[in-house]
Amino acid sequence: MARRVLIKFSGEALSLENGHGIDSSKLKFIASEIKTLTDEGIEVGLVVGGGNIIRGVTAAKEGIIKRSSGDYMGMLGTVINAIALQEALEYYGLKVRVQSAIKMEEICEPFIVRRAIRHLEKKRVVIFAAGTGNPFFTTDTAATLRAIEIGAELIIKATKVNGVYDKDPNKFSDAKKLDSLTYEDAMKDNIKVMDDTSIALAKDNSLPIVVCNMFEKGNLLKIVNGDFSKASLVTNKGE
Ligand code: GTP
Repeated sequence: MARRVLIKFSGEALSLENGHGIDSSKLKFIASEIKTLTDEGIEVGLVVGGGNIIRGVTAAKEGIIKRSSGDYMGMLGTVINAIALQEALEYYGLKVRVQSAIKMEEICEPFIVRRAIRHLEKKRVVIFAAGTGNPFFTTDTAATLRAIEIGAELIIKATKVNGVYDKDPNKFSDAKKLDSLTYEDAMKDNIKVMDDTSIALAKDNSLPIVVCNMFEKGNLLKIVNGDFSKASLVTNKGE
């Protein structure tokens, strides 16, 4: 069983039907799934995206807002989600700390890795907000970076699908789920589990990536127990 994990999910996982805002029922579902892990003594770090609030690339599309400014706006979006998630986890009685890569002391702690590790040792969930604190990086990269920094055994990328497919399962009915694959496979154009920067970082540090369905009840606990039947595992070995 993995003792310390980093879970990354997108901002859209929290969104209302229209893809925006925050849906309390989704917050509750995610929080209750995370509780199944902390109940087993597993130490959990979280990174959440900000796409339900604003996406840097989209904000910059018309050429008025610079890409770097758009990305900073996106980072602020992740802080909004982190605070919502903190409340939901506390609703279920968990101890939670939010640490932001961009200082905003009135709202949350600044990111200090040694302090984050101390929180985890004390069985507090740590939510890492504001991405890496730098534009032109994704929250996937932030998640991989934080996973390595805190010494997580796994990074779990929670998505809308049951794992990695050889082609888009929403477009192709004959798409095949891949149970395990290499980092190189994960970088291929038709697969693209995460952006290349995050996969390269995971590869360099031999950090296993698990891709799974966010909304499959009980799946997170199965995964930390080594059951990847409803997920795909990305490692050096692949098949
Ligand atoms: P220990 O030192 O291990 O007991 O950790 P702790 O987080 O309980 O203690 P601390 O006294 O550092 O923090 C108490 C509360 O204040 C916690 O809810 C922290 O998240 C919060 N806190 C600590 N530092 C900051 C900060 O810089 N900004 C904000 N907004 N909250 C903070």
